[in-house]
Amino acid sequence: MRSPLPDYLTEVAEACSATKGGEPASYIPELAKVDPDRFGIALATIDGEVYAVGDAEHEFTIQSISKAFVYGLAVRDHGLEQVLAKIDVEPSGEPFDELSLDASGRPRNPMINAGAITAHTLVGEPDTAPHERVERIIRLLSDLAGRELSVDEDVWRSEVATADRNLAIAHMLRSHGILTDSAEEVVSAYSRQCAVLVTARDLALMAATLANSGVQPVTGKQVFTGAQVRHVMSVMLTCGMYDSAGDWVSSVGIPAKSGVGGGIIGALAGQAGLATFAPPLDAHGNSVRGVETFGRLSRDTGMHLM
Ligand code: DON
Repeated sequence: MRSPLPDYLTEVAEACSATKGGEPASYIPELAKVDPDRFGIALATIDGEVYAVGDAEHEFTIQSISKAFVYGLAVRDHGLEQVLAKIDVEPSGEPFDELSLDASGRPRNPMINAGAITAHTLVGEPDTAPHERVERIIRLLSDLAGRELSVDEDVWRSEVATADRNLAIAHMLRSHGILTDSAEEVVSAYSRQCAVLVTARDLALMAATLANSGVQPVTGKQVFTGAQVRHVMSVMLTCGMYDSAGDWVSSVGIPAKSGVGGGIIGALAGQAGLATFAPPLDAHGNSVRGVETFGRLSRDTGMHLM
């Protein structure tokens, strides 16, 4: 018989800590300062029980994991049809920082930077000021975590100082009429969204909110509707792991999203949210130990959707 859940998670953490390889992100210089051996796993049930092992209480920046939730907020603010007019939902098969656009100039999906920068601008009304948009996003992420979150100012400054690629993407989106705001303002505000500090425990609760049809399991707050969650989890499944999405679906089979801060979330509808934190990344920008941990959890417990 399998050990009780906390013991089982500890066993998984011990087994997966043997997995080596990868490097912490360094294209945002501040991220390279992280201790590469940090490793945490958290699981939150839809009843609000949280099991956390290792470095699950250590704060790091959410990075691209925010994209899934901000896409949900854009859909919440404008409805799917209006969001689809600006962002497609097809896997790009390309790295997250490529300018992957369809024939009409729409970003291929909201999980790559081009789509996420666009989704960021769809939060609030067209005349919402950049700082108000960021406040709205921090409110959303805090509601999902069930505690007040804040921005890592050093990581934000570091990302803005080295944001040439995202600026280039934003300028191209402007040239296609997808963005109308100033590229510099949008990228600066999007970088603040990415620099929000979370723990694996927070992320597990955020994922559990998706798993619980949009209701935060501890506070009981309805953050998204069931229909909004379905849109978010669908793009997580098909696009959340970028150009390794096919491999992920076939081997792990859980709607997921990764971030270059070293986090990965997974949401199991009607059951639980999962999160890992381990900074070294593979060539796709996904945490090496996180991918290994999710694979093991999926194999051991039959979490695969199919
Ligand atoms: O826009 C960027 O490049 C970062 N703020 C986020 C990228 C990211 O997390 C990709 N995920 N694995």
